[in-house]
Amino acid sequence: MLKLAVLVSGGGTNLQAVMDAIEDGRITGAGIEVVISNNANAYALERAKQKNIKNECISPKNFASREEFNQAFLAKLKDYTVDLIVLAGFLVVIPPEMIAAYKDRIINIHPSLIPSFCGKGYYGLKVHEGALARGVKVTGATVHFVDEGTDTGPIILQKAVAVEEGDTPEVLQRRVMEEAEWKILPEAINLIANGRVKLEDGKVYITKGNGKEQV
Ligand code: GAR
Repeated sequence: MLKLAVLVSGGGTNLQAVMDAIEDGRITGAGIEVVISNNANAYALERAKQKNIKNECISPKNFASREEFNQAFLAKLKDYTVDLIVLAGFLVVIPPEMIAAYKDRIINIHPSLIPSFCGKGYYGLKVHEGALARGVKVTGATVHFVDEGTDTGPIILQKAVAVEEGDTPEVLQRRVMEEAEWKILPEAINLIANGRVKLEDGKVYITKGNGKEQV
C-alpha cells in the first residue's frame, strides 16, 4: 500500500478528486496518510476532516526564517510514514532538503501543458491569465515529478483542453480542472501505486504489459 501525503493550500478540489478515486477504486494500492496545508483556512483541510483523514497545518509565516520553516516542515512530514508526496495546489516552494529526502517521490499537478505557462510566477489563476493573454487555442494540465527547479521535473501525464471564445481565466480554470486535472492526477497516482511508472534518464515511461511506452 502506497502511503500518500497530500500537500494543499486552497480549495482542495484535486485532493477531493484523489479521495473520490481511492473510494471508487480508480486508484488501487494507495491511501492518504496525511493532508498538510500551509494555510489554516484552506477548505482542503475541511475536506480531509470530513473523511477522517489526519491533517496538519504548518506555515512559513509562523517561523522566524525560511530555514527554520524548512526544517520544521521536513520534521513534520517525517512524523508520518510516507511513500509519495502529492502537491495538489500547494503554493509553497518545496525545500531542497525535502526534494533530496524524497527523491523521485514527489509529484505535482500544474494547470498548463508544460513547458508553456509554468515556472516562477505561474500558479493558480495566473496560469490561465497567461494562456488567454497569449491567445493559445489549446491548454491543459500536467502531472510531473518534482526536481530542484520550478515545474522542470520529468513529465508523467498531460491532457489537452480547448480554449473557447469568451473564456475568462475563471471559466478556463474550471474547464482545465474538470477535463484534465481531476482525471490525470488520480490516474498518475494509480500508475505509480501499481508500479507502472519508470524513470529512465530523466524521462518517464509507462509500462504496459511486457513492453514500455514513452508518454
Ligand atoms: C489547481 O488548479 C492546481 O493545478 C494549481 O492550483 C489549483 C489548486 O486548486 N496548482 C498550481 O498552480 C501549482 N503551480 P485546488 O486547491 O482546488 O486543487
